[in-house]
Amino acid sequence: MSSFPTARPRRLRRTPALRKLVRETTLSAGNLIAPLFVRHGKNVSKAIGSMPGQSQLSVDLVVREAEVLARAGVPAVLLFGIPSRKDLLGSENYDPDGIVPQAIRAIKAAVPDMLVISDMCFCEYTSHGHCGILNAPDEAGYTPQLEESYLLNDVTLELLGKASVVHAQAGADIIAPSGMLDGMVGAIRAALDAQHLEHVTIMSYAAKFASGFYGPFREAAEGAPQFGDRAQYQMDFGNSREAMKEVALDVAEGADMLMVKPAGAYLDIIQRIRDAYDLPLAAYQVSGEFSMIKAAAANGWIDECRVALESLTAIRRAGADMIITYFAKDAAGWLAGR
Ligand code: PBG
Repeated sequence: MSSFPTARPRRLRRTPALRKLVRETTLSAGNLIAPLFVRHGKNVSKAIGSMPGQSQLSVDLVVREAEVLARAGVPAVLLFGIPSRKDLLGSENYDPDGIVPQAIRAIKAAVPDMLVISDMCFCEYTSHGHCGILNAPDEAGYTPQLEESYLLNDVTLELLGKASVVHAQAGADIIAPSGMLDGMVGAIRAALDAQHLEHVTIMSYAAKFASGFYGPFREAAEGAPQFGDRAQYQMDFGNSREAMKEVALDVAEGADMLMVKPAGAYLDIIQRIRDAYDLPLAAYQVSGEFSMIKAAAANGWIDECRVALESLTAIRRAGADMIITYFAKDAAGWLAGR
């Protein structure tokens, strides 16, 4: 390797055109997925205070937002539902007339090319806010097996399969299980295939960490645990070998795409998975990552557009093919020079 003064890396940084020519990582609207929060009602837009610029929208307004995103070049939306009722079984999640199936049908009817991803989890739908069925409450009809409150894995898998079929029959292109239950990908694949839904894609939240960065999302999805936290099912943030084990299991169970969540503090995990697997890889820039940028920008401490695009490009550089981000619409605009 030649060294200074022969080698002068600054030669490649002299003008904007040169820098553009030698940039190694690209970011475009086509890489982005927009999360949307859908609630019951008509013409309802309820601002989410912890996430400036984001709102819970009724189905009619979610459809309009999907149209705007499609025009901006964003190819996919990820749906979260705010149900009208919460119970021990999270039953609205597998109700064909539940809020998410309604939204899926409406979006696919109005914007057929928009990919609709259903975030498949029970935390928004259960009265206790955990991601599935708990062993404790006997009203749920399951015999308690353990002294302490524990998320029942295999009982929850049955309901995840049932709800995935309902969302897929409503027209979801992709089911994205996010509960970090053991065997969730295999159970959902089997349930879908048994109903001739073998064409429906599974994007697994393969390595999802129990993270403080989900803080602002509590208000957005109204699904905070009423007691305890999610550390019994989501991963410990100190672990990276364990992430590889989680990914290996999901790949073996038939995941079509993988995901790492959160993104910004987990770039090493993204890179490690990218190096080891060929499957498409998504990363989720979560609510805390978004709101920290928004809050600092609102104080005039950082430039929102600049930092948002830098953070998204860094996630791509680490190896993510696609990014789920609350900046999707704005980033598409910024990238188009609007
Ligand atoms: C629920 C779920 C959460 C998020 C997505 N799905 C919250 C959690 O796991 O506690 C967080 C998304 C975000 O913070 O933007 N399974």
